[in-house]
Amino acid sequence: MNFLEGASPVRRAKATASTAAPSVLKLCCYSLVVFGAIFLQVTETVKHENFKICSQSGFCKRNRALADDATAAGSAWVSPYELEPASITMRNGKLKGTIWKTIDGQEERVELPLVFSFYEQGFVRLQIDEAKRLKGEIELRNGSKVRKERYHEAEKWALVPGLKLSTHAKHTTLEEAGVTRVHYGGITAFEAIIRHNPFEVRFLRDGEVHMVLNERNFLNMEHWRAKPEAKEDDVDNGEWDESFGGATDSKPRGPESVALDITFPGYAYVYGIPEHATSLALKETRGGEGNYNEPYRMYNADVFEYETDSPMTLYGSIPFMQAQRKGSTVGVLWLNAAETWVDVIKQKNNPLTFSTHDNSYKESTQTHWISESGILDLFVFLGPNASALYRDYGAITGYTTLPPMFSIAYHQCRWNYVSQDDVKTVDKKFDQFDIPYDVIWLDIEYTDEKKYFTWDPLTFSKPLDMVKGLDKRQRKLVAIIDPHIKKTDGYPVSSELTSRELAVKDKSSKIYDGWCWPGSSNWVDCFNPSTVSWWKEQFKFNKFVGSQRNVHIWNDMNEPSVFNGPETTMPKDNIFYDNWEHRDIHNLYGLTFHNATYSAVKERESQNEDKQLRPFVLTRSFFAGSQRTAAMWTGDNEAKWSHLQAAFPMLMAQGIAGMPFAGADVGGFFGNPSKELLTRWYQAGAFYPFFRAHAHIDAKRREPYLAGEPYVSIIREAVRLRYSLLPAWYSAFHRASWDGMPILRPMFVMFPDNEAGFSIDDQFFMGDTGLLVKPVVYEGAESVSIFLPDRQVYYDYKDFTIYKGESSNVEIKTPLERIPMLMRGGHVFVRRDRPRRSSGLMKYDPFTVVVSVGDEGVADGVLYLDDGETYAYKKGEFIHRSFIYNSAGNTLESRDLAPETANNRFVKNMKGVRIEKVILVGVKSGAVGKKGKVTVKSDGKTWDAKVTVEEGKDGKATVVVVRDPKVRYKFLALVITTSHN
Ligand code: NOJ
Repeated sequence: MNFLEGASPVRRAKATASTAAPSVLKLCCYSLVVFGAIFLQVTETVKHENFKICSQSGFCKRNRALADDATAAGSAWVSPYELEPASITMRNGKLKGTIWKTIDGQEERVELPLVFSFYEQGFVRLQIDEAKRLKGEIELRNGSKVRKERYHEAEKWALVPGLKLSTHAKHTTLEEAGVTRVHYGGITAFEAIIRHNPFEVRFLRDGEVHMVLNERNFLNMEHWRAKPEAKEDDVDNGEWDESFGGATDSKPRGPESVALDITFPGYAYVYGIPEHATSLALKETRGGEGNYNEPYRMYNADVFEYETDSPMTLYGSIPFMQAQRKGSTVGVLWLNAAETWVDVIKQKNNPLTFSTHDNSYKESTQTHWISESGILDLFVFLGPNASALYRDYGAITGYTTLPPMFSIAYHQCRWNYVSQDDVKTVDKKFDQFDIPYDVIWLDIEYTDEKKYFTWDPLTFSKPLDMVKGLDKRQRKLVAIIDPHIKKTDGYPVSSELTSRELAVKDKSSKIYDGWCWPGSSNWVDCFNPSTVSWWKEQFKFNKFVGSQRNVHIWNDMNEPSVFNGPETTMPKDNIFYDNWEHRDIHNLYGLTFHNATYSAVKERESQNEDKQLRPFVLTRSFFAGSQRTAAMWTGDNEAKWSHLQAAFPMLMAQGIAGMPFAGADVGGFFGNPSKELLTRWYQAGAFYPFFRAHAHIDAKRREPYLAGEPYVSIIREAVRLRYSLLPAWYSAFHRASWDGMPILRPMFVMFPDNEAGFSIDDQFFMGDTGLLVKPVVYEGAESVSIFLPDRQVYYDYKDFTIYKGESSNVEIKTPLERIPMLMRGGHVFVRRDRPRRSSGLMKYDPFTVVVSVGDEGVADGVLYLDDGETYAYKKGEFIHRSFIYNSAGNTLESRDLAPETANNRFVKNMKGVRIEKVILVGVKSGAVGKKGKVTVKSDGKTWDAKVTVEEGKDGKATVVVVRDPKVRYKFLALVITTSHN
C-alpha cells in the first residue's frame, strides 16, 4: 500500500509528522509538508476531484437518466411496477402484497414483496424487498462470501423498539378502479390510496393529498442479474466493477440500487437531510439560477476543507426530510444507510390545468431519492404540524438523550493541549480572567504514538493528577478515542482486536488495514456484539489508566476516515460482521462506534444505572438515531466569516432531523480568525446547543483570555450569558428529550402560517423562552435586521426597547459588544446570574425569573432541573415548574408541572434555593407606582418585598424589578400592588 497514493491532506500529514513516527513515514510526511506549503498558498478549498459527483457514481447516474427518460416521455412512459391485487392481505396493521417488475422483452418478471405497516401513532412504513435475494437464489461474483439478501438491518441501529401497529387501519380493494384504500390514523383521518398499476401511493390527510410516492414513475429496484457477456457497443454505466480515484469496487452483487420519487403537492419548502453546508430551506438540484446542479449527497465522509453553499456530502447523514407549506407539515424518513443522493425540484402549479391535487397552491416540491443498495424502506409522516412530526420521528428513532449539565456549558479545545502542564495553565488562566468553562479537551497528541487508551509518557506522565485537579472546580476532561487502532507490536488493544476477529475485513475476508493518524491501522467493527463487549472493557478505569469519572469521550474520524481509501473512506466491498458489505452499512458505521463508546462510558463503573453518571460522547459521524447517545459537531470548518454564516443553518437542520445537540468549532478550525471574527463567533457559539472552541494544530493559540481588550471582556460576557441562561438551555434540552422539539427553532417551526419566514435561517427562537436571537455573522456589521414573525410585542434583551410589527424587519445596532436578542412578549424564563467558574458550582445558586409581558397581559414559561449528572431523574428526582404571570391581578405564580415523588433527593437539596430577583418587562405603565411594593405569598405566609420601577419612555418598556423577595423557588407567588404614596 502506498501511503502517498490518495494521501490525506497536507495539514494532516504535517501533524502526523510532528509526532514520533516510523522514519519512512516521517520522510513521506516531510515531502508532503514541503509540497503542502506550496499547495496551501495556491488553494485552500475542498479537493472536488477526491469526491464523486452524481455522474461518477454509477447508480446515481443511471437513476437520474431514468428520471430524465421518464420525464421526457411523459404519459407515454410505462412504469414496470405493478402490485398484484390478488396478493394483497391485511392483518393487524400490516398490508402485504407482491409487486411485479416486468422487464422489457422478457417473459420473466421480478418478484418484489411489499409490506405497508400502519402504526398506532398514525405514521406508515413502506418496505419493498427482492424475493430472489431474500431466498438466497443469486450468485455472487468474484467468489465473494457476502450476504445475498438486500440489507435490511438499518432498523436495528436507527430505530427504537416498541412501536405498536394499528389495529384500526382498514383496507378496501377496488379491483375495477385498480386501487386499494387504507384508512388509518387516530384523531386525524389519514388515508393511503394505493394504485396497483403502475404502483403509486397517495397519502391523504382529511381528504387532501399531501404526499405521493412514484407519481413520476422513478421507482427503480435494480434486481439481481448475472453479468451479461460484454458486447462491443456496451456503454459502461458503472453497473459492474466501478473505479474511482485509483480504487476498483468489485461489486459482488452487481447493480442493486433502489430509488423512488416523492412529491409534496403544494409544499414549496423542504428542510432536513443533514449534513450539508447549505441553506436551511433546501435548494433545487437540477440546475437553473441560484440552484445546484448536483443532488444532495449522503455518504459520510471526511471532506477536507469543505466548502459552504454546497450539496456535497459531509461527515454525517440523517435521511429525514420535512416539507412545509402554510399551516401544514409532513415528512419522510428514507431508512437506508448506503450511499444516497436526493434531487429536489420545485414545480410551479398551474391552477388552470387539471390535477388530482389541490392546485390552488403556487408550488410543489418533487424529490428523488436514490440509494446504492438495501431494501426500499420508508416512513411517511402526515403531520399535521411540526411538533407532531418531531414527536413521531422521535417515537421511531428515539429522542435526544438528556445530557449532563456540564456538556451544555462551555468547552475549551484545541489540537492540542500539549502537556499536563499546558492543561493546568489553561485551567488557571480561565480563572484568572474570570471566564467560566466546564471542559478542557485533549486531541490525539495526548496518546503514546496515537495508541488510544495510552498517554504520552513524557508529556502526560501524571494524567490522574491532572484530571483530579480539574475535578476541584467540577471541571471535566474530554479525551479523543478514534476507531482506527494502530497496527503495532506490544499494544494489547491491537493484538486483541485482530486475534479475536473484532476488526473490519477486506473483500477477501482478511483483516483490513489502511492509513490514519497512527499510520497503518485496523478498524473496530462495532456491528459485532463481541466487539462492543470488548470495547466496553477498554474504558474500565483499570484499563484506561489515568481516566476517572470526570473523563468523557470524543469519537472522531468515524465515517470512517481512511487516508488512503477511496473518497477518504473504506472500499465499499470491505466486509463487516455477519458478512454485510461496507456498501450496505457505510452511513451507520459512525453510529455503531459512538453507541459502543456511550455504553462503555456509562457502564465503566457499574452495570447498575443507579450508580452511573450520564456519559458525554461527541461524534463527527452520525445517522438517524445517533441523538440517543451522542452530540455532533460540524467538523473541520474554517476561520472565515462564510463558515460562521454556514453554522446556524446547519445546526438548525440537525434540530429538525432530531439531533439538536449540535455545534460548530468556535473560531473556525483551520486558519486564524481576526479578533472581530473570534469575538463574533463566541457570541454566536453561546447559542450553539454544543458550545466548544477548537483550533487546528497549526493555528495560533486563541484561548479567549489571549484576545486582549476589549475582546476578552466581550467574550467573557458572551460566555457568562451562556452560563446565566443554563437553566433555560437545560429546560430546552429536556423538552427535546421527550417530544423532539428542536432547541434552535426556525421561524417556520414557530410560525407555520407565515410564509415570509420560511426561508429565514439566520435567526431562531431558543427553546420555549421566547428569546429571538440573530447573532452577527458578517464582518463589520453595524446593524442587523431581525424579522418579527408575528404581531406580538418584542423587547430588546438589554435595553428593553419595544419592537412591533408582524412580518416586518427591525434594525438593531450592533456594536461589537452587542448580540442582537429580543424577548417575545408572553414568555417567562429562568436564569442564574451569579458568575461562577463552572456550571457544577452553580448547582444551588439562586434564580432570576424574567417575565416578558405579552400584548394580552400574560406570560408563561417552564423550568426543568435535576441533578444534571445521574439518572435519578428517571425516578422522578427533578423539578419541573411552570411560571405564570397575569396582569389582571398583577400576579406571578410558580406551579408544579409534575407531582413530586417521595424521597426526592434533588427537591430536598434544592429546598433552600431562592429566587433572588424577578424582572418584569412590559408591565403596563402606571400599574405599579414609583414606590410600588410587592406582596409575596409563600408557604402560607405573606410579606412585602421591595421593587424598583423604571417607567417606560423613549420607546422602552416599563420594567419592574423585584429584589430579593426572600422566597424559595418553589413557593413563588407574587402580587404586585399599586402604591402611589
Ligand atoms: C479531525 C477533527 O475533525 C478535528 O477536530 C481534530 O482536531 C483532528 N481530526 C485531529 O484529531
